[in-house]
Amino acid sequence: MAEGSARRPRVAFAMREGLRDTVFSATALERLAAVAEVEPGPVLTELESDAARKVLARSEILLTSWGAPLLDAGQLERAPHLRAVVHAAGSVKHHLTPDVWTRGVVVTSAADVNAVPVAEYTLATILLAGKGILAAAAAYRADPEGIHVTDWPTIGNYAKRVGVIGASRIGRLVCDLLRPFGFEVVIADPYLDDGGACALGARLVTLEELFATSDIVTLHAPDLPETRHLVNAERLAAMKDGATFINTARGALVDHDALTRELRSGRVNAVLDVTTPEPLPADSALLALPNALVTPHVAGSLGTELFRLGDAAVEEVERLAAGAPPLRPVTLEDLARQA
Ligand SMILES: NC(=O)c1ccc[n+]([C@@H]2O[C@H](COP(=O)([O-])OP(=O)(O)OC[C@H]3O[C@@H](n4cnc5c(N)ncnc54)[C@H](O)[C@@H]3O)[C@@H](O)[C@H]2O)c1
Repeated sequence: MAEGSARRPRVAFAMREGLRDTVFSATALERLAAVAEVEPGPVLTELESDAARKVLARSEILLTSWGAPLLDAGQLERAPHLRAVVHAAGSVKHHLTPDVWTRGVVVTSAADVNAVPVAEYTLATILLAGKGILAAAAAYRADPEGIHVTDWPTIGNYAKRVGVIGASRIGRLVCDLLRPFGFEVVIADPYLDDGGACALGARLVTLEELFATSDIVTLHAPDLPETRHLVNAERLAAMKDGATFINTARGALVDHDALTRELRSGRVNAVLDVTTPEPLPADSALLALPNALVTPHVAGSLGTELFRLGDAAVEEVERLAAGAPPLRPVTLEDLARQA
């Protein structure tokens, strides 16, 4: 797999039982077979059995996805030919230890590609939130004859401010998707500077300014020790009356007791794709409040969108087989601040 040389690497799948054929279309599998020697046996769901060890011992590329078995120093000892792990999903933190990078194994992830449906979900939510659809639908249901649209002068998607937390892969894509609309975009991220924000069509602000001035706040930071309860009581209390908070990131970033209190006051709205706990108990107030809309962690790739991950992973194998550098490498340095 040296640069410029073309050869057929030996590839094995490692992921949750039954996942391979929902992530890799028949066309993707054909493309893969055209450039690689694909292990014919079952997908690796563990690396301890004799059969799995034999496959690992001859594999040059592992194609992983959700539920892949952990690859640590011990497993790497038994994988002398392994050159790359190509992950057909988002985060690699759950199945790769730093030993993988120390050993010089190339790691690539489809997290950029998984960002697409999350950013689409977010854009759709921002536009519908701007039109006040939760309140409008509730008012209509309560009294179909009593609607006076002139009673809602602050409704609409013109001259509103969207606050994006995190210039992450998803946060950046959200900024891109927002460009054609009439929003002002502000962004908060400790790793971003004014020039970087400007390149995203946004203005860099503090979290305090973002919460206090945005009509819509959308959360896209990773779950790290320093982001736990980043959305706390104080910041929620600072939100404008009628503002909407969107969370497609992780529940751990939000103080849910504080959020529930703020929502109960009726002052703000929320659209939550992720929560703590997840799933919510059936009697959770968040599921019952009229100003909260909760979806069961569906923003990321699902259904047909899974094939986009498989296509991206096969593209990486094609590149590696051709001796080209991967399109979406993950470095150990990046990982410390990534999802
Ligand atoms: N709902 C879903 O189905 C779904 C799917 C995919 C990802 N996610 C979640 O979406 C979030 C974003 O994912 P991603 O892959 O775009 O993340 P990412 O790995 O690209 O994020 C890394 C970036 O976040 C920014 N960041 C780091 N610390 C920050 C902080 N303290 N404050 C603000 N920004 C900070 C930095 O710019 C960093 O480079 C994560 O929480 C992820 O778990 C959810």
